[in-house]
Amino acid sequence: MKFLFVKLVSQLSLVILWSFATVITSQHVSVVSLPNNESVPAVIVFGDSIVDTGNNNYINTIAKVNFLPYGKDFGGGNQPTGRFSNGLTPSDIIAAKLGVKKLLPPYLDPKLQPQDLLTGVSFASGGSGYDPLTSKIASVLSLSDQLDKFREYKNKIKETVGGNRTTTIISKSIYILCTGSNDIANTYSLSPFRRLQYDIQSYIDFMIKQATNFLKELYGLGARRIGVIGLPVLGCVPFQRTIQGGIHRECSDFENHAATLFNNKLSSQIDALKKQFPETKFVYLEIYNPLLNMIQNATKYGFEVTDKGCCGTGDFEVGFLCNRLTPHICSNTSSYIFWDSFHPTEEGYKVLCSQVLDKNIKDFF
Ligand SMILES: *[C@@H]1O[C@H](CO)[C@@H](O)[C@H](O)[C@H]1NC(C)=O
Ligand SMILES: *[C@@H]1O[C@H](CO)[C@@H](O)[C@H](O)[C@H]1NC(C)=O
Ligand SMILES: *[C@@H]1O[C@H](CO)[C@@H](O)[C@H](O)[C@H]1NC(C)=O
Ligand SMILES: *[C@@H]1O[C@H](CO)[C@@H](O)[C@H](O)[C@H]1NC(C)=O
Repeated sequence: MKFLFVKLVSQLSLVILWSFATVITSQHVSVVSLPNNESVPAVIVFGDSIVDTGNNNYINTIAKVNFLPYGKDFGGGNQPTGRFSNGLTPSDIIAAKLGVKKLLPPYLDPKLQPQDLLTGVSFASGGSGYDPLTSKIASVLSLSDQLDKFREYKNKIKETVGGNRTTTIISKSIYILCTGSNDIANTYSLSPFRRLQYDIQSYIDFMIKQATNFLKELYGLGARRIGVIGLPVLGCVPFQRTIQGGIHRECSDFENHAATLFNNKLSSQIDALKKQFPETKFVYLEIYNPLLNMIQNATKYGFEVTDKGCCGTGDFEVGFLCNRLTPHICSNTSSYIFWDSFHPTEEGYKVLCSQVLDKNIKDFF
């Protein structure tokens, strides 16, 4: 019974996501200027719910959000697309900022046309992680499943535009990897499996090893401009405050320490990869402090509510617990950093993405 409960809690919180982020629901994203007349043909994204744009709609999993109030501010409003937010996700925001396209479609969407593939897709799947067990618990695409889909993708674009242009598209595109929150917040913290085998240090080493293998494989498949998003200030998301933060719902030190430790190791590992593959741009994208800054200095960024999601009580609702029947949805989404108890609002993502990209874009060229 306890096991079942833990499994259920871990599944639903696996739905977690996470990640990035300007203002209101206009969906306008300003384009950044690229150095030296560089062009980016496509944006290709791997990871979890922070960057899934709807792949889980086409998978047999409970980790989906293709129902209202998700998507309440998407497009003209009230369009639940499977994005884990009220509107855009970092995948869309990054593609728009790079001037590639306004929305990054999910690769599994059966309506995608060959032309759509040429400018990129998201392979991300909400609920997945670096740890293969994480995606298994949630029945979603693991990173290795996502790479298999990427291989299939490469073959499809080759059929459309030929080998020569495919090589150019693959090598000049920007790749983004964003995952790891579910490993620490769910697989490690909420389920017993990994804690029997690993302490947190060795679990993080295991995650880093998985990340490194993924990046090397992606390199092997032709990617040359690869950004890896670090972990957010995980202990300060509303859900963690509720379950670990005591009566005052403070940030959870355990998750924050784990995220910091992971980020330090990830950043060193990326430095090592840069040395090993000098012709490839590996870029570590740090979001922990930018998000913490948004939470601590909220008014500076136009936010008012930092410790609760917009959906329901804001303390625990995420995934299927945030649904059509949820009694209270905040009316002023743009003053909230978080949409549900795990995922930022579109506004939150826009502010975060702007900070991170403005700082790091030059490193991709
Ligand atoms: C960028 O392209 C424009 C137009 O093709 C050209 O005039 C300019 O010199 C180029 N700048 C650089 C830095 O290559
Ligand atoms: C591929 O592109 C290169 C450089 O643009 C060109 O020299 C070569 O002939 C092309 N090869 C084929 C098979 O089209
Ligand atoms: C919040 O703003 C103050 C003043 O600008 C700054 O010193 C502080 O570092 C900021 N907090 C974070 C977490 O960046
Ligand atoms: C919504 O939030 C914005 C930014 O915090 C604020 O300027 C505006 O007055 C709020 N509107 C309502 C109806 O609360």
